[in-house]
Amino acid sequence: MSDPRGRLATYLDQRRRMGEPGVMPAELAPGELLALLRTTAAPASGRRREAGGQGVVPASREAESAKGNAAGGSASPFPLPEAASADYRALREMALACTRCRLAEGRRHVVFSDGNPAGRLMVVGEAPGAREDATGLPFVGQAGKLLDLMLASVGLSRSDSVYICNVLKCRPPGNRNPLPDEIDACAPLLKRQIDLVSPEVLLAAGTFAARWLTETNKPLGKLRGEVYSYQGVPLVVTYHPAALLRNPGWNRLCWDDLQLLRQVMDGPS
Ligand code: URA
Repeated sequence: MSDPRGRLATYLDQRRRMGEPGVMPAELAPGELLALLRTTAAPASGRRREAGGQGVVPASREAESAKGNAAGGSASPFPLPEAASADYRALREMALACTRCRLAEGRRHVVFSDGNPAGRLMVVGEAPGAREDATGLPFVGQAGKLLDLMLASVGLSRSDSVYICNVLKCRPPGNRNPLPDEIDACAPLLKRQIDLVSPEVLLAAGTFAARWLTETNKPLGKLRGEVYSYQGVPLVVTYHPAALLRNPGWNRLCWDDLQLLRQVMDGPS
């Protein structure tokens, strides 16, 4: 196997199967992680296939509804035009030309997705950063490299098993947090994207994705550790990789979240 990410994934998976409690130890500093990641290959864009869903494991659902923006199942104040949501290609084309909010003015690229729409797992992040805006692909900066390592640690990769997108498709200026009206404007795209890709499992990376998908306003630390259901699709929540780079002490918790994700994907044994 020549792909370094593939070799890393195999190595981490072997350690996981041997019962290693954690392969992303908290004491691994961000600099060390990044040195490790520098040896990995650039993410590949995925192949397309017909999307089709599969069964889900039992999941709990938070009852508290989100305030401020249209969350996962809620009706949006800005519905999509019908033609735009006919199929995946139409949705993507609509997104690439979108002017539904102010972020269209400053963007270089709309960042729709990367990875494999036929992949079992769909990862939802927050919003594109500078590198993503420049390339049109999600999670290609330092946080993206860490995300690839996190996925590899449980045997997943955007080149085959994972589809990646964000709550917002355009970069907020200066990487500020998404504003509620921007989420409201973009949410119907994400909602339809999830319907059309029809993943087996969802992973929310960070507070904005976790809150939107669970329809709550709780802090991420209170949301993680449970399996939710987004419209019948099992959903696991974890820290955003950029937050992990700032807080390496959370690596162990993230490792636990990834083990939960792997359990959900492996199904009852
Ligand atoms: N952070 C995100 O949430 N998404 C990206 O695509 C890049 C960084």
